[in-house]
Amino acid sequence: MANVIVVGTQWGDEGKGKVVDLLAKDAQVVVRFQGGNNAGHTIVLKDRKVILHLVPSGILHPGKKCIIGRGVVVDPGVLLEEIRQLRELGYFTLDTLLYISEAAHLILPYHREIDIGRERLLGKGKIGTTGRGIGPVYEDKAARSGIRFVDLLEESVFRDKLKANLEEKNFYLKHRLRAEPLEFQPIVDQYLSFGEELRAFACDESLTLYEEMAKGSHILFEGAQGMFLDQDFGTYPYVTSSNTTAGGACTGAGVGPTKIDLVMGICKAYTTRVGAGPFPTELEDELGLHLRQRGSEYGATTGRPRRCGWLDAVLLRQAVRVNGIGSLAMTKVDVLQGLDGIKICVAYECDGKRLETVPDSLLRLTRCRPIYEEMPSWNQEVHCKGGFDSLPPQLTNYVRRVEELAGVPVDIISLGADREETVVRRNPFIS
Ligand code: GDP
Ligand code: IMO
Ligand code: MG
Repeated sequence: MANVIVVGTQWGDEGKGKVVDLLAKDAQVVVRFQGGNNAGHTIVLKDRKVILHLVPSGILHPGKKCIIGRGVVVDPGVLLEEIRQLRELGYFTLDTLLYISEAAHLILPYHREIDIGRERLLGKGKIGTTGRGIGPVYEDKAARSGIRFVDLLEESVFRDKLKANLEEKNFYLKHRLRAEPLEFQPIVDQYLSFGEELRAFACDESLTLYEEMAKGSHILFEGAQGMFLDQDFGTYPYVTSSNTTAGGACTGAGVGPTKIDLVMGICKAYTTRVGAGPFPTELEDELGLHLRQRGSEYGATTGRPRRCGWLDAVLLRQAVRVNGIGSLAMTKVDVLQGLDGIKICVAYECDGKRLETVPDSLLRLTRCRPIYEEMPSWNQEVHCKGGFDSLPPQLTNYVRRVEELAGVPVDIISLGADREETVVRRNPFIS
């Protein structure tokens, strides 16, 4: 298969970075298509841990083209810092490895201020955003007042657009959010200098991808966040402000749906969520704390503790349906070792009825109680070398049960954070 989309099937942090890095070995191009630096994608290689927020997770392999599509919102200061850090570690040796769509929208200081100010105003009812300005920048894009990367490359255009925006944003900041207004000149100076540093990376990503496809390249589309943070299919309003589902890859990178060969879903062996919003299988007890500690469940972007709970097959089935997932990668299976038993939520009980799908009504979802199936865990240390059949039978039974419930095969099983700690039953780029 040539063109594969990777998406999260839960509330983010499923281990997309690890799987994309693993698959990138057999791809020539890796593309981010939505979200921004709210994402934190972790890659572990031996003793080194790299967290990527904007640069696609193919960058640790020499020679892979990494593309930031127009569906991504770019904070140029954050991107430049990420590039600097990667270079310091010896990665990203050539400028020709990174491409940024000219049409990608830019995060400006007022987007961050509005994000933070709104959350403060919401108080207890806050979304729990990452505070990176994601909601406000996508609002501007939809309102047709946003500033794109290409605008930054033409000084007079940038000045005019910033002036018009800042007038409105300062009014809102001052009078609605009771926050300090921002000055025009320091933003102009800082952003024009960012623009000069990034100018060389500007591209038309749709055209670049088209040309790569014509050459027969393998292309990996790297989703950020997860299905239930999608602005249309997630637990609205406790979602992010982009389409995290597979369709977002087409609109966010300029590729027609007929060009996609496979959607791979990444699914943690249990569930986590950062920020507010419903979470039917959440464990607010010792077991939840155990999962957090054993799985090091702290946000890769904000460091916040992640809420933890059992695997929810109702969510997973819905993610398979909405994304057209044909293959799953299950991560963090090692974290379940040594538990007294492992539970899987197979359906919900809601208002006295059995429910097999996730309701759109937040109120109804909050009333859903998980119906669990229980399976035994395993105690022995797990090694990847012998492949799937050498894994403990309790582990393989768990994987097989998830396959049955999801209706698709689990082709990759991740048993540790390192690239090497993985069992690949089927590689989409090879088979
Ligand atoms: P992403 O946002 O989906 O890329 O996921 P994050 O990087 O935010 O969170 C996943 C975390 O789990 C990271 O710290 C990874 O290094 C780690 N991780 C990934 N796969 C495994 C695994 O199979 N086992 C363990 N123990 N950790 C893993
Ligand atoms: P990756 O790509 C987990 C969550 C935030 C908040 C909600 C809205 O690493 O999986 P936003 O800042 O996007 O407006 O916040 O979405 N969120 C994530 N949770 N992983 C992420 O990305 C997330 N990106 C956003 O915690 O609940
Ligand atoms: Mg993450």
